[in-house]
Amino acid sequence: MSTNNKKAGFTHEKVETSNFLLIVLTFLVVAVGGLVEIVPLFFQKSTTEPIAGVKPYEPLPLLGRDVYIREGCYNCHSQMIRPFRAETMRYGHYSVAGEFVYDHPFQWGSKRTGPDLHRVGGLYSDEWHRIHLVNPRDVVPESIMPAYPWLENTVVDHTVVAQRMSALRKVGVPYTDEEIAGAEEAVKGKTEMDAVIAYLQGLGTALPK
Ligand code: HEC
Repeated sequence: MSTNNKKAGFTHEKVETSNFLLIVLTFLVVAVGGLVEIVPLFFQKSTTEPIAGVKPYEPLPLLGRDVYIREGCYNCHSQMIRPFRAETMRYGHYSVAGEFVYDHPFQWGSKRTGPDLHRVGGLYSDEWHRIHLVNPRDVVPESIMPAYPWLENTVVDHTVVAQRMSALRKVGVPYTDEEIAGAEEAVKGKTEMDAVIAYLQGLGTALPK
């Protein structure tokens, strides 16, 4: 170190040798950088408006989504196709932000023990999903996915669906009063299996495979 540096009050050496200063300055840089990157996304059309064909979840898939979250399907399945050739060849069109505007919270996930599910809608029949969820080994012999047989014997709680939809309306999902009023009737007597399958069959169908 030259003697010049000693005189200057605020040197890099001072920052690097002071825990406190380094932490405060690091936090400041990350905070400002984060704000600059994140805040504009709240105002960009491509991230705040649904793309054509994306609609709020109907009552049954909405309850199916709750089952998906409760059962922890997201621990093994992502719903986020990245714009890489290997992914788009396997799964279809990469995911775009405008497909997720009605997802609260989104189910992007971060772990792929199983395949990505973002474009699984329409890929298999309802019957395939039913057999697969009751016992995955019946259709994919080498599968390590757990079985979910109770979904078939459990009826959905139709009394919660209107509340769910009203809550979602508060955060911007455009459900109408009529849709909310008719929701209970639409899901009465359905099983959790019906609900999950309805949810899966709608996934990612707004864009072509
Ligand atoms: C422990 C990890 C794990 C969990 C938890 C899990 N899965 Fe899977 N899933 C897999 C694996 C591995 C595969 C691939 C083999 C197969 O098709 O069974 C798979 C395949 C699938 C497929 C077929 C995808 C395709 O493109 O072929 C669907 C649909 C699916 N899972 C739905 C679900 C749902 C719904 C849940 C929650 C109720 C769930 N999974 C929970 C591991 C898991």
